[in-house]
Amino acid sequence: MVSQIMAPWTPSFASLMSSQQATGLPATFSFSNVGADNLPHVRTCVFRGFLFDDKKTNVLTFTTDRRMMKLKDLEKNSVFEACFYFPSARKQFRFSGVVRIITCDHSPEVSFDSASISDGSISSTSPSAASSESVSSSSGFAEAEIPIVELDRDFYADNLKDSGIYNELTYHLVSPTQAKNIESISDFSQQPPTLAPPTKAEWQNERLRIWKGLSRTMRGTFRQPTPGSRLTPERQKLIDSISRGVDGGSQEQDNFVVVCMFVNTVDTVDMGVGPGRRVLYKRDRVDHWKEFEVCP
Ligand SMILES: Cc1cc2nc3c(=O)[nH]c(=O)nc-3n(C[C@H](O)[C@H](O)[C@H](O)COP(=O)(O)O)c2cc1C
Repeated sequence: MVSQIMAPWTPSFASLMSSQQATGLPATFSFSNVGADNLPHVRTCVFRGFLFDDKKTNVLTFTTDRRMMKLKDLEKNSVFEACFYFPSARKQFRFSGVVRIITCDHSPEVSFDSASISDGSISSTSPSAASSESVSSSSGFAEAEIPIVELDRDFYADNLKDSGIYNELTYHLVSPTQAKNIESISDFSQQPPTLAPPTKAEWQNERLRIWKGLSRTMRGTFRQPTPGSRLTPERQKLIDSISRGVDGGSQEQDNFVVVCMFVNTVDTVDMGVGPGRRVLYKRDRVDHWKEFEVCP
């Protein structure tokens, strides 16, 4: 029995990411969201791996400080875009969806219909099949001329209702303990367990796992003065002593936040092949992925 299935974009993304991480350079990407001012905001962040260190979750993570502006904005509107570029392969992945956060006092609430995957497969239609079955056009243009995202008006906006960061999310995410146990079941006559989402303890363990993976310097940043506040001589002194590890500070974790990016759509552009190749992926409400090859 399979508890979770990798999305069709995940293997190539994970493989390019591993090659980049092997170079020793941080795996940075651009993370954007919409502010309370209704303006787009973008900044560089470091990718911290797949949630629960499991590619099959299809959920991407990074860390931040709860005092940062992006978090305040995401609390009200959790929609995001994240753009990764792999120069060696000349390949771009542009993700969109909603984020949920793990803090010291909050764990995401996720629910799903366990029957949606009981046949063990997330359907991934072939690009041509998906394109031909796509919604019909109401404009006067020949359908083949119209961008997929215009044909499918909700391409980016689907699944974005109730997008506050603390709202319950519908996403096929299985308890990591259960996912591991199910994969090790070799006796197929055994009755498979009813799938359940991660528990609060599992979310908090995940936050701790990612915290432990940070460098001492990085951990120190979470006890620095409020990011974005005016730099005074006293604050500069505190920042210096934290970075030298002589501030006598504890392993303060309260400001440490893990941001989980639940992906709904992916737009990939591969400029490493001939004139370029562009493939769009869209997750539907029951966690099946559709794939559309489009003109680059
Ligand atoms: C190389 C690099 C990596 C960064 N990684 C992160 C990160 O993982 N998380 C984060 O919150 N900010 C990171 N930052 C800082 C952000 O780019 C940004 O300045 C900061 O998060 C404040 O953004 P905000 O005020 O919009 O919240 C990084 C900056 C650089 C230059």
